[in-house]
Amino acid sequence: MSATSQCRICGGAVHEFFDFGRQPLADAFVDPAGGAEEFFHRLAVAQCESCTMVQLLEDVPRERMFRTDYPYHSSGSTVMQQHFRATARHFLDTELLDPDAFVVEFGSNDGIMLDTVHRAGRRHLGVEPCKGVAEAAAAKGIRVRNAFFEESTAAEIAAADGPAQVIYAANTFSHISYVDSVFRGVDALLAPNGVFVFEDPYMADIVEQTSFDQIYDEHFYFFTVRSVQAMAAHYGFELVDVEHLAVHGGEIRYTVARRGARTPGPAVGLFLEREKAARITERDTLARFAAAVDRVRDDLRAVLERCKAEGATVAAYGATAKSATLTNYCGIGPELVSYVADSTPAKQGRLSPGSHIPVRSPEDFRADYPDYAVLFAWNHAEEIMAKEEGFRRAGGRWIVYVPEVKVV
Ligand code: SAM
Ligand code: TMP
Ligand code: ZN
Repeated sequence: MSATSQCRICGGAVHEFFDFGRQPLADAFVDPAGGAEEFFHRLAVAQCESCTMVQLLEDVPRERMFRTDYPYHSSGSTVMQQHFRATARHFLDTELLDPDAFVVEFGSNDGIMLDTVHRAGRRHLGVEPCKGVAEAAAAKGIRVRNAFFEESTAAEIAAADGPAQVIYAANTFSHISYVDSVFRGVDALLAPNGVFVFEDPYMADIVEQTSFDQIYDEHFYFFTVRSVQAMAAHYGFELVDVEHLAVHGGEIRYTVARRGARTPGPAVGLFLEREKAARITERDTLARFAAAVDRVRDDLRAVLERCKAEGATVAAYGATAKSATLTNYCGIGPELVSYVADSTPAKQGRLSPGSHIPVRSPEDFRADYPDYAVLFAWNHAEEIMAKEEGFRRAGGRWIVYVPEVKVV
């Protein structure tokens, strides 16, 4: 574990604005039969006074988080399947028109994006350190390398396959503390006019919606257009386009090119202006965010305590990594939420990290609806509420907590 009081990117001084205390690894679901002791770390976030990048203060060793049995399978959501099919088609129709074009995706998981590229017959490679999901992608015929993307991996890929027109990463680049090595890898692998495209949760959406549960061990950086522009410049690249995405509670897709290779589009300046006007990374905004987090915690606990006092049954839906921060910071365990329903077989039968709420199947949920269900997977609200419309028809009510606590 390494702790720092300096910006991991520019070396500037950092200002801590929230401390969640001791937290477990958000994807380390516990075997109820016992086994290895749970690993805890200090989860605190800070902002660089110089380049404005928001970042964690402690860096959990990557092998602890991204293991063989990493339980997150991207294809579990049909909305995300559609999102990544559209992403792949967009690349195929723009950057990958040449029949010999080559795309590398790091954090390719179970192949949710590359599947479409593979079916179109384009040269591709996924780079994925977690063996289980990497094998799931390989079983679909996708080319995958079971490794962490970093300078050495990228140099080897460049030597074996030649330059890439597109290097892509979704919900992965912000997980990587060692961005210096990643940028050197991009430099080794990217074609002269190629693009490095990544999409990650947007700090402005996190602040505006008080979605503090986006903060957990795997999410190391919280990007804004301003901080990504500074980071790209620091490593000799240039931010040339940005696009706001609705998925995962609000993300930005950043397009980075070699410095001077492409003309930046108008969206970059527009977002920089918006961020300035919203004062997203000013100290007073972050202080208001911190106060709002505690308000959500107090309101959610009050609703759950009231349900308990009334003898109502309460479950949750979606054993998300995010819910590790929510439950452990708010002190929510099986005494307030009796179980959490989740469609991921690798999570079912296990206990949520730290808070030890049993994970059960959605079929169990449907067999005997609770009175209330806390929507832990709030970022998939539309998909889940549509799929589970029988719950409300049967008189059940959802408890949501983003952007504020509400029973709906
Ligand atoms: N791209 C998928 C998506 O958006 O659904 C998966 C996102 S998942 C939250 C993050 C993925 O990044 C995991 O599969 C993890 O193994 C992978 N990962 C973490 N560090 C990595 C690295 N240095 N190189 C490649 N993949 C990495
Ligand atoms: P995520 O917020 O990190 O994408 O995690 C979503 C979790 O919710 C994941 O464990 C899968 C689960 N899930 C369901 O159980 N049913 C669903 O319909 C969806 C979309 C997700
Ligand atoms: Zn900095």
